[in-house]
Amino acid sequence: MSKIKLSMPNLGDARSRKQKETPTFSYKLNNEYKNIGYGKTYHIFTYGCQGNEADSEVIAGILEDLGYVKAAEPYAADVVILNTCAIRENAENRIWGVLGNLKGVKAQRPNILIGICGCMPQEENATNKLMSSYPFVDLIFGTHNIYDLPKLLNEAYHKDAKVIEVISTEGAIYEGAPKHRESNYKAWVNIMFGCDEFCTYCIVPYTRGKERSRAKEDIIAEVKDLVAKGYQEVTLLGQNVNAYGKDLGSDYTFGDLLYDLDKTGIKRIRYTTSHPRDLDLKTIYAMRDCPSVMPHLHLPVQSGDNHILKKMNRKYTCEEYLAKIATLKKEVPGISITTDIIVGFPNETEEEFANTLKLVDEVKFEGAFTFIYSKREGTPAAKMEDLVSDEVKHERLDRLNELVDKYYLAGNKRFEGQVVKVLVDGVSKNNPDNLCGYSEHLKLVHFPSKDMSLVGKIVNVKITEGKTWFALGELVE
Ligand code: SAH
Ligand code: SF4
Ligand code: F3S
Repeated sequence: MSKIKLSMPNLGDARSRKQKETPTFSYKLNNEYKNIGYGKTYHIFTYGCQGNEADSEVIAGILEDLGYVKAAEPYAADVVILNTCAIRENAENRIWGVLGNLKGVKAQRPNILIGICGCMPQEENATNKLMSSYPFVDLIFGTHNIYDLPKLLNEAYHKDAKVIEVISTEGAIYEGAPKHRESNYKAWVNIMFGCDEFCTYCIVPYTRGKERSRAKEDIIAEVKDLVAKGYQEVTLLGQNVNAYGKDLGSDYTFGDLLYDLDKTGIKRIRYTTSHPRDLDLKTIYAMRDCPSVMPHLHLPVQSGDNHILKKMNRKYTCEEYLAKIATLKKEVPGISITTDIIVGFPNETEEEFANTLKLVDEVKFEGAFTFIYSKREGTPAAKMEDLVSDEVKHERLDRLNELVDKYYLAGNKRFEGQVVKVLVDGVSKNNPDNLCGYSEHLKLVHFPSKDMSLVGKIVNVKITEGKTWFALGELVE
Protein backbone atom coordinates (compact mmCIF):
# COMPACT_ATOMS: atom_id res chain seq x y z
CA MET A 1 0.00 0.00 0.00
CA SER A 2 1.37 3.41 -0.88
CA LYS A 3 1.22 6.36 1.46
CA ILE A 4 -0.40 9.73 1.13
CA LYS A 5 1.84 11.78 3.36
CA LEU A 6 -0.29 14.83 3.76
CA SER A 7 1.65 16.17 6.70
CA MET A 8 3.86 14.89 9.48
CA PRO A 9 4.25 16.06 13.08
CA ASN A 10 7.12 18.30 14.05
CA LEU A 11 7.92 18.96 17.70
CA GLY A 12 9.84 22.14 16.84
CA ASP A 13 6.78 23.64 15.14
CA ALA A 14 4.60 22.39 17.98
CA ARG A 15 6.64 24.46 20.44
CA SER A 16 6.08 27.70 18.57
CA ARG A 17 3.65 30.25 19.96
CA LYS A 18 3.57 32.95 17.30
CA GLN A 19 -0.11 32.99 16.43
CA LYS A 20 -1.71 35.91 18.27
CA GLU A 21 -5.36 35.26 17.63
CA THR A 22 -7.02 31.89 17.44
CA PRO A 23 -9.18 31.36 14.38
CA THR A 24 -12.66 30.05 15.15
CA PHE A 25 -14.48 27.97 12.56
CA SER A 26 -18.00 26.60 12.42
CA TYR A 27 -18.03 22.94 11.62
CA LYS A 28 -19.91 22.08 8.46
CA LEU A 29 -20.12 18.73 6.77
CA ASN A 30 -19.23 18.90 3.10
CA ASN A 31 -22.06 17.35 1.05
CA GLU A 32 -19.49 15.36 -0.90
CA TYR A 33 -18.88 13.14 2.14
CA LYS A 34 -22.46 12.62 3.27
CA ASN A 35 -23.40 8.97 3.65
CA ILE A 36 -19.87 7.57 3.30
CA GLY A 37 -20.59 5.64 6.49
CA TYR A 38 -24.01 4.43 5.37
CA GLY A 39 -24.47 0.78 6.35
CA LYS A 40 -21.17 0.71 8.23
CA THR A 41 -20.31 0.50 11.94
CA TYR A 42 -17.64 2.12 14.11
CA HIS A 43 -15.88 1.66 17.41
CA ILE A 44 -13.60 4.11 19.24
CA PHE A 45 -11.08 3.03 21.86
CA THR A 46 -10.28 5.99 24.10
CA TYR A 47 -7.19 6.37 26.32
CA GLY A 48 -5.81 9.26 28.32
CA CYS A 49 -7.45 12.26 29.91
CA GLN A 50 -10.98 13.66 29.88
CA GLY A 51 -9.89 15.86 26.97
CA ASN A 52 -9.57 12.70 24.91
CA GLU A 53 -12.92 11.40 26.13
CA ALA A 54 -14.51 14.66 24.99
CA ASP A 55 -12.71 14.41 21.63
CA SER A 56 -14.00 10.86 21.18
CA GLU A 57 -17.54 12.15 21.63
CA VAL A 58 -16.91 14.59 18.77
CA ILE A 59 -15.37 11.85 16.61
CA ALA A 60 -18.41 9.66 17.31
CA GLY A 61 -20.67 12.59 16.45
CA ILE A 62 -18.92 13.17 13.15
CA LEU A 63 -19.01 9.46 12.28
CA GLU A 64 -22.73 9.27 13.03
CA ASP A 65 -23.27 12.35 10.91
CA LEU A 66 -21.64 10.40 8.07
CA GLY A 67 -24.07 7.54 8.55
CA TYR A 68 -21.99 5.14 10.67
CA VAL A 69 -23.61 3.47 13.67
CA LYS A 70 -21.89 2.19 16.79
CA ALA A 71 -20.83 -1.45 16.45
CA ALA A 72 -22.19 -4.05 18.86
CA GLU A 73 -18.67 -5.47 19.36
CA PRO A 74 -15.47 -3.38 19.16
CA TYR A 75 -13.61 -5.72 16.85
CA ALA A 76 -16.66 -6.31 14.64
CA ALA A 77 -16.70 -2.65 13.56
CA ASP A 78 -15.98 -1.51 10.01
CA VAL A 79 -14.00 1.44 11.32
CA VAL A 80 -11.91 1.11 14.49
CA ILE A 81 -10.33 4.26 15.86
CA LEU A 82 -7.77 4.43 18.65
CA ASN A 83 -7.76 7.80 20.39
CA THR A 84 -4.37 7.72 22.08
CA CYS A 85 -2.42 9.27 24.95
CA ALA A 86 1.29 10.08 25.05
CA ILE A 87 1.66 11.31 28.61
CA ARG A 88 3.89 8.45 29.87
CA GLU A 89 5.68 5.54 28.29
CA ASN A 90 3.32 3.01 29.86
CA ALA A 91 0.32 4.84 28.33
CA GLU A 92 1.94 4.33 24.93
CA ASN A 93 2.86 0.72 25.61
CA ARG A 94 -0.79 -0.11 26.15
CA ILE A 95 -1.56 1.25 22.70
CA TRP A 96 1.22 -0.71 21.01
CA GLY A 97 -0.36 -3.75 22.71
CA VAL A 98 -3.87 -3.00 21.36
CA LEU A 99 -2.34 -2.47 17.91
CA GLY A 100 -0.86 -5.95 18.20
CA ASN A 101 -4.41 -7.33 18.64
CA LEU A 102 -5.70 -5.28 15.73
CA LYS A 103 -3.10 -6.76 13.43
CA GLY A 104 -4.84 -10.13 13.74
CA VAL A 105 -8.27 -8.57 13.24
CA LYS A 106 -7.09 -6.83 10.08
CA ALA A 107 -5.62 -10.08 8.77
CA GLN A 108 -9.02 -11.75 9.13
CA ARG A 109 -11.09 -8.81 7.93
CA PRO A 110 -8.92 -6.83 5.50
CA ASN A 111 -11.77 -4.45 4.72
CA ILE A 112 -11.86 -2.85 8.14
CA LEU A 113 -10.37 0.58 8.39
CA ILE A 114 -8.01 1.22 11.32
CA GLY A 115 -7.36 4.79 12.40
CA ILE A 116 -5.13 6.27 15.07
CA CYS A 117 -5.55 9.74 16.48
CA GLY A 118 -4.99 11.70 19.69
CA CYS A 119 -1.68 12.66 21.23
CA MET A 120 0.61 9.85 20.06
CA PRO A 121 0.55 10.77 16.37
CA GLN A 122 1.66 14.28 17.39
CA GLU A 123 5.03 12.80 18.37
CA GLU A 124 7.51 12.37 15.56
CA ASN A 125 8.91 9.10 16.97
CA ALA A 126 5.51 7.51 17.44
CA THR A 127 4.29 8.40 13.94
CA ASN A 128 7.50 7.11 12.39
CA LYS A 129 7.09 3.86 14.29
CA LEU A 130 3.42 3.64 13.26
CA MET A 131 4.43 4.02 9.63
CA SER A 132 7.30 1.58 9.66
CA SER A 133 6.08 -1.17 12.00
CA TYR A 134 2.29 -1.04 11.73
CA PRO A 135 1.55 -1.10 7.99
CA PHE A 136 -2.02 -2.26 8.60
CA VAL A 137 -2.96 1.13 10.10
CA ASP A 138 -4.89 2.96 7.38
CA LEU A 139 -5.32 6.40 8.82
CA ILE A 140 -3.17 8.49 11.17
CA PHE A 141 -4.46 11.91 12.20
CA GLY A 142 -3.58 14.38 14.93
CA THR A 143 -5.40 16.36 17.58
CA HIS A 144 -5.75 19.34 15.22
CA ASN A 145 -7.23 17.25 12.39
CA ILE A 146 -10.32 15.75 13.99
CA TYR A 147 -12.63 18.04 12.06
CA ASP A 148 -11.13 16.87 8.77
CA LEU A 149 -12.18 13.32 9.51
CA PRO A 150 -14.82 13.10 6.72
CA LYS A 151 -12.23 14.13 4.12
CA LEU A 152 -9.57 11.81 5.57
CA LEU A 153 -11.93 8.83 5.66
CA ASN A 154 -12.94 9.51 2.11
CA GLU A 155 -9.31 9.52 1.04
CA ALA A 156 -8.60 6.33 2.94
CA TYR A 157 -11.50 4.61 1.16
CA HIS A 158 -10.88 5.84 -2.33
CA LYS A 159 -7.17 6.10 -2.72
CA ASP A 160 -6.30 2.66 -1.33
CA ALA A 161 -3.40 4.22 0.53
CA LYS A 162 -2.32 4.98 4.04
CA VAL A 163 -3.44 8.50 4.92
CA ILE A 164 -1.37 10.52 7.36
CA GLU A 165 -2.39 14.00 8.40
CA VAL A 166 -0.82 15.35 11.55
CA ILE A 167 -0.23 19.06 11.73
CA SER A 168 1.77 20.69 14.52
CA THR A 169 0.23 24.13 14.80
CA GLU A 170 -0.98 26.31 17.61
CA GLY A 171 -4.49 25.20 16.75
CA ALA A 172 -7.94 26.61 16.10
CA ILE A 173 -11.39 26.37 17.67
CA TYR A 174 -14.32 24.64 15.99
CA GLU A 175 -17.83 25.35 17.13
CA GLY A 176 -20.92 23.44 16.20
CA ALA A 177 -19.44 19.99 15.56
CA PRO A 178 -21.86 17.14 16.25
CA LYS A 179 -21.26 15.24 19.49
CA HIS A 180 -22.39 11.83 20.55
CA ARG A 181 -22.29 12.15 24.34
CA GLU A 182 -21.74 8.95 26.31
CA SER A 183 -24.03 10.01 29.15
CA ASN A 184 -27.41 11.71 29.23
CA TYR A 185 -26.95 13.21 32.70
CA LYS A 186 -23.31 14.30 32.94
CA ALA A 187 -21.31 16.02 30.26
CA TRP A 188 -17.83 17.22 29.41
CA VAL A 189 -17.68 20.84 28.35
CA ASN A 190 -14.41 22.06 26.87
CA ILE A 191 -13.78 25.62 27.89
CA MET A 192 -10.28 25.82 26.44
CA PHE A 193 -7.78 23.78 24.49
CA GLY A 194 -4.00 23.44 24.56
CA CYS A 195 -1.43 24.42 27.14
CA ASP A 196 1.23 27.14 27.34
CA GLU A 197 2.76 26.09 30.64
CA PHE A 198 5.58 23.95 29.28
CA CYS A 199 6.29 22.05 32.47
CA THR A 200 9.66 20.54 31.57
CA TYR A 201 8.53 16.90 31.80
CA CYS A 202 5.28 17.24 29.86
CA ILE A 203 4.40 16.48 26.24
CA VAL A 204 0.93 18.08 26.29
CA PRO A 205 1.91 21.60 25.09
CA TYR A 206 3.43 19.88 22.04
CA THR A 207 0.52 17.56 21.34
CA ARG A 208 -2.33 19.99 21.97
CA GLY A 209 -1.07 23.37 20.81
CA LYS A 210 -1.47 26.81 22.26
CA GLU A 211 -3.84 27.78 25.05
CA ARG A 212 -7.03 28.91 23.37
CA SER A 213 -10.28 29.71 25.12
CA ARG A 214 -13.76 29.32 23.72
CA ALA A 215 -15.96 32.41 23.77
CA LYS A 216 -17.93 32.57 27.01
CA GLU A 217 -21.19 32.92 25.06
CA ASP A 218 -20.57 29.56 23.36
CA ILE A 219 -19.80 27.84 26.67
CA ILE A 220 -22.82 29.30 28.43
CA ALA A 221 -25.08 28.37 25.50
CA GLU A 222 -23.77 24.80 25.58
CA VAL A 223 -24.44 24.47 29.31
CA LYS A 224 -27.94 25.98 28.95
CA ASP A 225 -28.67 23.49 26.21
CA LEU A 226 -27.49 20.65 28.46
CA VAL A 227 -29.76 21.89 31.26
CA ALA A 228 -32.69 21.93 28.84
CA LYS A 229 -31.88 18.33 27.92
CA GLY A 230 -31.97 17.28 31.57
CA TYR A 231 -28.25 17.05 32.33
CA GLN A 232 -27.34 17.24 36.04
CA GLU A 233 -23.59 17.76 35.95
CA VAL A 234 -20.99 19.38 33.74
CA THR A 235 -17.23 19.05 34.03
CA LEU A 236 -15.43 22.02 32.52
CA LEU A 237 -12.32 20.87 30.73
CA GLY A 238 -8.96 22.37 29.95
CA GLN A 239 -5.32 21.56 30.70
CA ASN A 240 -5.17 24.72 32.78
CA VAL A 241 -8.70 26.01 33.26
CA ASN A 242 -7.47 28.78 35.55
CA ALA A 243 -5.85 30.42 32.54
CA TYR A 244 -9.28 30.67 30.88
CA GLY A 245 -9.68 33.94 28.99
CA LYS A 246 -6.06 35.07 29.16
CA ASP A 247 -5.57 34.48 25.45
CA LEU A 248 -8.75 36.41 24.64
CA GLY A 249 -7.24 39.56 26.06
CA SER A 250 -10.33 40.38 28.13
CA ASP A 251 -10.47 40.66 31.90
CA TYR A 252 -13.20 38.00 32.08
CA THR A 253 -11.62 35.12 33.99
CA PHE A 254 -12.41 31.56 34.98
CA GLY A 255 -13.99 32.80 38.23
CA ASP A 256 -16.38 35.00 36.22
CA LEU A 257 -17.30 32.02 34.07
CA LEU A 258 -18.14 29.95 37.17
CA TYR A 259 -20.44 32.70 38.48
CA ASP A 260 -22.19 32.89 35.10
CA LEU A 261 -22.55 29.14 34.70
CA ASP A 262 -24.00 28.86 38.18
CA LYS A 263 -26.95 30.91 36.90
CA THR A 264 -27.77 28.46 34.10
CA GLY A 265 -29.59 26.10 36.45
CA ILE A 266 -27.13 23.21 36.08
CA LYS A 267 -27.07 21.30 39.38
CA ARG A 268 -23.39 20.42 39.51
CA ILE A 269 -20.29 22.05 38.08
CA ARG A 270 -16.85 20.43 38.30
CA TYR A 271 -13.69 21.44 36.53
CA THR A 272 -10.33 20.01 35.69
CA THR A 273 -7.43 20.66 35.61
CA SER A 274 -6.23 23.59 37.67
CA HIS A 275 -2.74 24.99 37.73
CA PRO A 276 -1.80 26.17 41.23
CA ARG A 277 -0.10 29.32 39.99
CA ASP A 278 -3.16 30.53 38.11
CA LEU A 279 -5.76 29.56 40.73
CA ASP A 280 -7.05 32.95 41.84
CA LEU A 281 -9.22 34.34 44.61
CA LYS A 282 -12.21 34.91 42.35
CA THR A 283 -12.29 31.20 41.54
CA ILE A 284 -12.09 30.34 45.24
CA TYR A 285 -14.91 32.81 45.97
CA ALA A 286 -17.00 31.29 43.19
CA MET A 287 -16.52 27.89 44.82
CA ARG A 288 -17.69 29.42 48.08
CA ASP A 289 -20.63 31.40 46.66
CA CYS A 290 -22.08 29.22 43.89
CA PRO A 291 -24.18 26.29 45.10
CA SER A 292 -23.63 24.41 41.85
CA VAL A 293 -19.82 24.54 42.00
CA MET A 294 -18.87 21.34 43.79
CA PRO A 295 -16.67 21.40 46.91
CA HIS A 296 -13.85 19.38 45.38
CA LEU A 297 -10.68 20.60 43.74
CA HIS A 298 -8.03 18.66 41.89
CA LEU A 299 -4.91 20.79 42.27
CA PRO A 300 -1.81 18.99 40.98
CA VAL A 301 1.22 19.85 43.09
CA GLN A 302 3.69 17.47 41.33
CA SER A 303 6.35 17.80 44.05
CA GLY A 304 6.75 19.12 47.58
CA ASP A 305 10.26 20.39 46.98
CA ASN A 306 11.06 23.90 45.72
CA HIS A 307 14.18 22.88 43.84
CA ILE A 308 12.32 20.15 41.96
CA LEU A 309 9.37 22.48 41.29
CA LYS A 310 11.80 24.93 39.75
CA LYS A 311 13.38 22.23 37.59
CA MET A 312 9.84 21.25 36.54
CA ASN A 313 9.10 24.89 35.57
CA ARG A 314 5.96 24.86 37.69
CA LYS A 315 6.35 28.57 38.58
CA TYR A 316 5.19 28.32 42.22
CA THR A 317 6.80 27.37 45.51
CA CYS A 318 5.49 24.96 48.13
CA GLU A 319 4.81 27.94 50.38
CA GLU A 320 2.65 29.57 47.70
CA TYR A 321 0.84 26.28 47.10
CA LEU A 322 0.18 25.82 50.82
CA ALA A 323 -1.08 29.40 51.14
CA LYS A 324 -3.67 28.71 48.40
CA ILE A 325 -4.70 25.48 50.12
CA ALA A 326 -5.17 27.39 53.39
CA THR A 327 -7.41 29.95 51.62
CA LEU A 328 -9.41 27.17 49.96
CA LYS A 329 -9.95 25.36 53.25
CA LYS A 330 -10.99 28.61 54.95
CA GLU A 331 -13.39 29.83 52.24
CA VAL A 332 -14.87 26.46 51.28
CA PRO A 333 -15.18 24.60 54.59
CA GLY A 334 -14.93 20.83 54.21
CA ILE A 335 -13.57 21.04 50.64
CA SER A 336 -11.91 17.86 49.44
CA ILE A 337 -8.59 18.36 47.68
CA THR A 338 -6.89 15.85 45.42
CA THR A 339 -3.65 16.09 43.49
CA ASP A 340 -1.11 14.63 41.06
CA ILE A 341 2.44 13.82 42.15
CA ILE A 342 5.46 12.74 40.14
CA VAL A 343 8.24 10.82 41.89
CA GLY A 344 11.70 10.25 40.51
CA PHE A 345 12.00 13.47 38.52
CA PRO A 346 15.61 13.51 37.14
CA ASN A 347 18.12 13.32 39.98
CA GLU A 348 15.51 13.73 42.73
CA THR A 349 17.32 13.23 46.05
CA GLU A 350 15.97 11.37 49.06
CA GLU A 351 15.65 14.69 50.86
CA GLU A 352 13.68 16.22 48.00
CA PHE A 353 11.38 13.21 47.97
CA ALA A 354 10.97 13.44 51.76
CA ASN A 355 9.75 17.03 51.25
CA THR A 356 6.96 15.66 49.05
CA LEU A 357 5.92 13.28 51.82
CA LYS A 358 5.95 16.21 54.22
CA LEU A 359 3.69 18.26 51.98
CA VAL A 360 1.26 15.33 51.61
CA ASP A 361 1.14 15.11 55.41
CA GLU A 362 0.45 18.79 55.66
CA VAL A 363 -2.30 19.06 53.04
CA LYS A 364 -3.82 15.62 53.73
CA PHE A 365 -4.95 15.17 50.12
CA GLU A 366 -8.05 13.00 49.96
CA GLY A 367 -6.78 11.35 46.81
CA ALA A 368 -3.79 11.53 44.52
CA PHE A 369 -2.69 10.19 41.18
CA THR A 370 0.93 9.27 41.68
CA PHE A 371 3.33 8.60 38.81
CA ILE A 372 6.92 7.67 38.25
CA TYR A 373 8.54 10.26 36.01
CA SER A 374 8.59 9.09 32.41
CA LYS A 375 11.00 10.57 29.91
CA ARG A 376 9.24 12.23 26.95
CA GLU A 377 11.41 12.78 23.90
CA GLY A 378 11.49 16.42 22.86
CA THR A 379 10.80 17.89 26.30
CA PRO A 380 13.51 19.78 28.26
CA ALA A 381 13.56 17.22 31.10
CA ALA A 382 14.50 14.46 28.64
CA LYS A 383 17.95 16.06 28.46
CA MET A 384 18.46 16.25 32.23
CA GLU A 385 20.90 13.91 33.93
CA ASP A 386 19.14 11.18 35.88
CA LEU A 387 21.21 8.88 38.05
CA VAL A 388 18.38 7.61 40.23
CA SER A 389 17.76 3.90 39.72
CA ASP A 390 14.37 2.46 38.79
CA GLU A 391 14.44 0.47 41.99
CA VAL A 392 14.71 3.62 44.12
CA LYS A 393 11.91 5.27 42.11
CA HIS A 394 9.60 2.31 42.65
CA GLU A 395 10.41 2.19 46.33
CA ARG A 396 9.60 5.92 46.62
CA LEU A 397 6.32 5.43 44.78
CA ASP A 398 5.37 2.67 47.24
CA ARG A 399 6.15 4.86 50.24
CA LEU A 400 4.18 7.75 48.76
CA ASN A 401 1.19 5.54 47.94
CA GLU A 402 1.11 4.17 51.46
CA LEU A 403 0.83 7.68 52.84
CA VAL A 404 -1.69 8.77 50.21
CA ASP A 405 -3.90 5.76 50.99
CA LYS A 406 -4.02 6.75 54.65
CA TYR A 407 -5.57 10.09 53.72
CA TYR A 408 -7.86 8.53 51.09
CA LEU A 409 -9.33 6.46 53.92
CA ALA A 410 -9.59 9.45 56.26
CA GLY A 411 -11.33 11.39 53.46
CA ASN A 412 -14.04 8.72 53.23
CA LYS A 413 -14.30 8.13 56.97
CA ARG A 414 -15.02 11.77 57.70
CA PHE A 415 -18.46 11.34 56.11
CA GLU A 416 -19.53 8.43 58.32
CA GLY A 417 -22.92 9.19 59.85
CA GLN A 418 -23.57 12.06 57.41
CA VAL A 419 -26.13 12.24 54.62
CA VAL A 420 -24.51 13.07 51.29
CA LYS A 421 -25.99 13.77 47.84
CA VAL A 422 -25.02 11.17 45.25
CA LEU A 423 -25.47 11.44 41.49
CA VAL A 424 -26.17 7.80 40.62
CA ASP A 425 -24.09 6.27 37.82
CA GLY A 426 -25.26 2.66 37.79
CA VAL A 427 -24.63 -0.79 39.21
CA SER A 428 -21.42 -1.26 41.25
CA LYS A 429 -18.79 -3.28 39.43
CA ASN A 430 -18.04 -5.48 42.43
CA ASN A 431 -21.54 -6.00 43.80
CA PRO A 432 -24.62 -6.36 41.57
CA ASP A 433 -26.88 -5.60 44.55
CA ASN A 434 -25.43 -2.11 44.90
CA LEU A 435 -25.72 1.10 42.93
CA CYS A 436 -22.91 3.65 42.97
CA GLY A 437 -22.22 7.25 42.16
CA TYR A 438 -20.28 10.29 43.30
CA SER A 439 -21.01 12.65 46.16
CA GLU A 440 -20.53 16.41 45.95
CA HIS A 441 -17.01 15.99 47.38
CA LEU A 442 -16.29 13.43 44.63
CA LYS A 443 -16.42 10.44 46.95
CA LEU A 444 -17.39 7.19 45.29
CA VAL A 445 -20.43 5.92 47.22
CA HIS A 446 -21.99 2.45 47.04
CA PHE A 447 -25.43 1.68 48.47
CA PRO A 448 -27.81 -1.29 48.28
CA SER A 449 -30.49 -0.75 45.65
CA LYS A 450 -31.62 -2.31 42.41
CA ASP A 451 -33.76 0.60 41.35
CA MET A 452 -32.30 1.46 37.95
CA SER A 453 -34.66 4.43 37.65
CA LEU A 454 -32.31 6.22 40.05
CA VAL A 455 -29.51 6.32 37.46
CA GLY A 456 -28.84 9.92 36.49
CA LYS A 457 -30.66 11.25 39.57
CA ILE A 458 -29.28 12.88 42.70
CA VAL A 459 -30.26 10.93 45.83
CA ASN A 460 -29.56 11.19 49.56
CA VAL A 461 -27.32 8.50 51.01
CA LYS A 462 -26.33 8.12 54.66
CA ILE A 463 -22.71 7.00 54.88
CA THR A 464 -22.27 3.97 57.13
CA GLU A 465 -18.63 3.10 56.51
CA GLY A 466 -15.69 4.83 54.87
CA LYS A 467 -13.23 2.51 53.12
CA THR A 468 -10.02 3.44 51.31
CA TRP A 469 -11.39 3.69 47.76
CA PHE A 470 -15.08 4.25 48.42
CA ALA A 471 -17.75 4.71 51.07
CA LEU A 472 -20.71 2.49 51.85
CA GLY A 473 -24.10 3.91 52.67
CA GLU A 474 -27.84 3.50 52.59
CA LEU A 475 -30.52 5.37 50.72
CA VAL A 476 -32.54 7.84 52.83
CA GLU A 477 -35.48 10.09 51.94
N1 SAH B 1 -2.76 19.76 32.79
C1 SAH B 1 -2.82 18.96 33.91
C2 SAH B 1 -2.32 17.57 33.83
C3 SAH B 1 -2.07 16.88 32.59
S1 SAH B 1 -1.24 15.39 32.65
C4 SAH B 1 -2.04 19.64 34.99
O1 SAH B 1 -1.14 20.38 34.77
O2 SAH B 1 -2.33 19.33 36.10
C5 SAH B 1 -1.75 14.60 34.13
C6 SAH B 1 -0.63 14.31 35.05
O3 SAH B 1 0.30 13.43 34.46
C7 SAH B 1 0.20 15.51 35.46
O4 SAH B 1 -0.39 16.26 36.46
C8 SAH B 1 1.47 14.87 35.93
O5 SAH B 1 1.42 14.53 37.28
C9 SAH B 1 1.54 13.60 35.10
N2 SAH B 1 2.60 13.65 34.09
C10 SAH B 1 2.69 14.49 33.04
N3 SAH B 1 3.82 14.23 32.35
C11 SAH B 1 4.46 13.22 32.98
C12 SAH B 1 5.68 12.52 32.76
N4 SAH B 1 6.47 12.83 31.76
N5 SAH B 1 5.99 11.52 33.62
C13 SAH B 1 5.18 11.20 34.64
N6 SAH B 1 4.03 11.84 34.91
C14 SAH B 1 3.67 12.84 34.08
FE1 SF4 C 1 1.52 19.47 31.16
FE2 SF4 C 1 2.12 21.39 32.85
FE3 SF4 C 1 0.45 21.88 30.82
FE4 SF4 C 1 -0.32 20.33 32.83
S1 SF4 C 1 0.19 22.50 32.97
S2 SF4 C 1 -0.59 19.93 30.67
S3 SF4 C 1 1.54 19.27 33.41
S4 SF4 C 1 2.62 21.39 30.68
FE1 F3S D 1 -2.70 12.05 27.29
FE2 F3S D 1 -2.89 13.89 25.47
FE3 F3S D 1 -4.53 13.93 27.54
S1 F3S D 1 -1.03 13.05 26.26
S2 F3S D 1 -3.28 13.03 29.15
S3 F3S D 1 -4.44 12.36 26.00
S4 F3S D 1 -3.67 15.69 26.51
